[in-house]
Amino acid sequence: MSATASAIRTAKRVDRFTYAIRNIVVEAKNVEAAGKAVRYLNIGDPNQFGFLTPPHLIEAVVKAMRDGHNGYTPSPGIAEAREAAAADFAARGVDVGADRVLITSGTSEGIELALTGIVDDGEEVLVPSPTYPLYTAVLAKIGALPAYYRTDHTNHWLPDLDHIRSLITAKTRALVVIDPNNPTGAIYPEATRRALIEIAEAHGLVILADEVYGDLSYDGAVPAMAALDNDAPIISYSSLSKAYLAPGWRAGWMAVGSSPRLDPALAAIKKLADGRLCSPGPMQYAVTAALTGDRSHQAVFRRELRERAELTTRRMNAIPGISCVAPRSAFYAMPKVELPPGKTDVDYVLGLLRSKGVLCVYGSGFGTAPEDGFFRIVFLASPRELDAIYDDVEAFTTEFRSA
Ligand SMILES: Cc1ncc(COP(=O)(O)O)c(C=O)c1O
Repeated sequence: MSATASAIRTAKRVDRFTYAIRNIVVEAKNVEAAGKAVRYLNIGDPNQFGFLTPPHLIEAVVKAMRDGHNGYTPSPGIAEAREAAAADFAARGVDVGADRVLITSGTSEGIELALTGIVDDGEEVLVPSPTYPLYTAVLAKIGALPAYYRTDHTNHWLPDLDHIRSLITAKTRALVVIDPNNPTGAIYPEATRRALIEIAEAHGLVILADEVYGDLSYDGAVPAMAALDNDAPIISYSSLSKAYLAPGWRAGWMAVGSSPRLDPALAAIKKLADGRLCSPGPMQYAVTAALTGDRSHQAVFRRELRERAELTTRRMNAIPGISCVAPRSAFYAMPKVELPPGKTDVDYVLGLLRSKGVLCVYGSGFGTAPEDGFFRIVFLASPRELDAIYDDVEAFTTEFRSA
């Protein structure tokens, strides 16, 4: 290498790009290297905590491979998976043809395809605060901007509709609705969903309805948002990752609603999807197996989640200085700690990691203000492990707040 050679410069968009849920693992590895065991409560992966993929899905993938389905598939996915997804949407009251369904590498890819296909450089997308951070990460990549709308922890983490209205400008293109919600575990009542659709309609916005946790409400599946109004411009998302316990397979689906107003968006998304060839082929056969086969694992999973949610809420609310809204779905809680003056959520989360080896994610990684003191817990570990972890959270919080 010549002495004058300098490092290859990287793109500025990477400076804007963050994904705290995984970025924070670097800190955890440092703590492990220093000899302390770390308990990872940062990533929502049920497989890592013993919730296993249903065998009939594994058989479908193995069979597909053995039957020679190892080549590229059509870009929008194999016909039978698209038809199974369309039939599943129909059963949930969403009237959408298989030609408007795409099979994607997880919901993540579908989100990126839609935002890339619809939102231009410098335009804005309404994103909840707190949000699942992929939305803001993708917006950073495409040069667009998030407009964070408040969801209110003093009101069951429901969206503040007036705040949404106040944020809309000529540059606003889309409204992201994560319901059931990560990171808060909230579920929105029908009236809220209808109001969100009305807002989108009044301003010509497309709704991205992220429903990856739709089957993981503790009281049973939550209706699909698009079922409330099949003519509204809604793109609906789900995947095998959470409700079918196969996050590593990267298999998801999206339905571009039947409104003709979405025809150009559908064409743009399909055009972009051609460029990435296809999502993993054998896993697409599991989409069919999942959506047409036995789902009894979901009832078991929901029961386990409810128990952990109740334990988490009870333990967090018993810690002086912490309050926690009870989650109603999925495997996340977003407690709030009262911080000493001058301290941030990052100070708290890194302190907890270094002192007790417990890894959570700071709320500001999801878009809340650092001084508000939110942090996210993934509560997939066993109730017994969680109890021990929460003893550590309690001891650390007392130290941190009195320091
Ligand atoms: C709200 C939400 N949307 C999307 C995703 C990404 O899911 P997938 O594995 O289907 O890409 C996640 C993953 O945690 C999520 O929580």
